[in-house]
Amino acid sequence: MGDKKRFTSVRKLDHLRICAEEAIESGDTGFNDIRFVHNALPECDMGTIDLTARFLNHAFSSPLFISAMTGGHPGTKEVNVRLARAAERFGIGMGVGSQRAALENPALEDTFSVVRDEAPHAFLVANLGAVQLRDHGIEWAERAVGMIGADAIAIHLNFLQEAIQPEGDHNALGCLAAIGELCRELRTPVIIKETGCGISAATARQCWGAGVSAIDIGGWGGTSWAAVESVRAEESRNLEGQRLKTLGKDFSDWGIPTGSPVIASGGVRTGLDIAKGLALGASLCGMALPLLKPAMESDEALDRTIDIIHQELVAAMFLTGSAKLTDLKKAPVFITGRTRQMIGKENPARIKR
Ligand SMILES: Cc1cc2nc3c(=O)[nH]c(=O)nc-3n(C[C@H](O)[C@H](O)[C@H](O)COP(=O)(O)O)c2cc1C
Repeated sequence: MGDKKRFTSVRKLDHLRICAEEAIESGDTGFNDIRFVHNALPECDMGTIDLTARFLNHAFSSPLFISAMTGGHPGTKEVNVRLARAAERFGIGMGVGSQRAALENPALEDTFSVVRDEAPHAFLVANLGAVQLRDHGIEWAERAVGMIGADAIAIHLNFLQEAIQPEGDHNALGCLAAIGELCRELRTPVIIKETGCGISAATARQCWGAGVSAIDIGGWGGTSWAAVESVRAEESRNLEGQRLKTLGKDFSDWGIPTGSPVIASGGVRTGLDIAKGLALGASLCGMALPLLKPAMESDEALDRTIDIIHQELVAAMFLTGSAKLTDLKKAPVFITGRTRQMIGKENPARIKR
């Protein structure tokens, strides 16, 4: 294997370890600025609250979505196995991490394809970077989809991370055109996804214009790739590493808070956060980091975590008198503080295509 390919793969293991062990969350999703109006007479039965959701013509048992995390190194396979088993058991959707490593080196494909083996019925989302899409075209996207029998493909935007990574791609020219071409050519739905800095109303409009089927906000306030890369740079202990560490720290509060459209993600930490994301207009809510640690531990730990998230969501629905998700979308909320200021005249959560 060439050095560059080995690097892509080893980086996947670095990311899992750093995310599980270090303090790499930063910022404020804005969820604290959002408050439901308590309904003291909810007139619904908490025992029969219906969490079923629909997204891209697919039915889900709950709006919780397992955000893209891993694959691409043999040491990551077990985590993907556990996440996929949970997706199958709970009837929820799941994204895999960037498939670049396996596209460069097919010997690593099983770290991704195992997800379809373990979750034959789940809605699975393939993953490729916008830069890799631009450089390798639809052929890589088709291979990524085929590798896991994906129901959709997420093209991730991670230019903050690229800017800080020593080996990062610093040229973003031509990515929007490549996304437009993919949407025209590929039969599988295309989701545009940020990885922790969020997607603004203007960028969302460009993406809808290019023909994407959905947007995953990947907003600021949860896992910070500036922080993750800053830890990696520090571990490298050379001069360049120290410079990049500073860059990572300086940019750790760069980004747009999570807000909502379609898949709300980035710093979603509880079932109550999910309820808020849905009330603002999201169809699903993605979580990565909160599911990583239990997935590294055991199936049981992951089940417990997901059960608690669902219980919190059900409680929030009960206390707003929402028997189903469409009721929750109508539940009255107060939007206060910085989130209110940022939303201003135009609520990005309610941009229509
Ligand atoms: C260990 C780890 C690896 C990740 N790898 C990817 C990736 O390969 N592709 C991607 O689109 N997002 C990736 N993400 C970003 C997540 O999908 C998500 O957008 C981000 O972590 C924000 O969600 P969170 O705050 O719930 O963690 C990764 C996140 C984590 C924690």
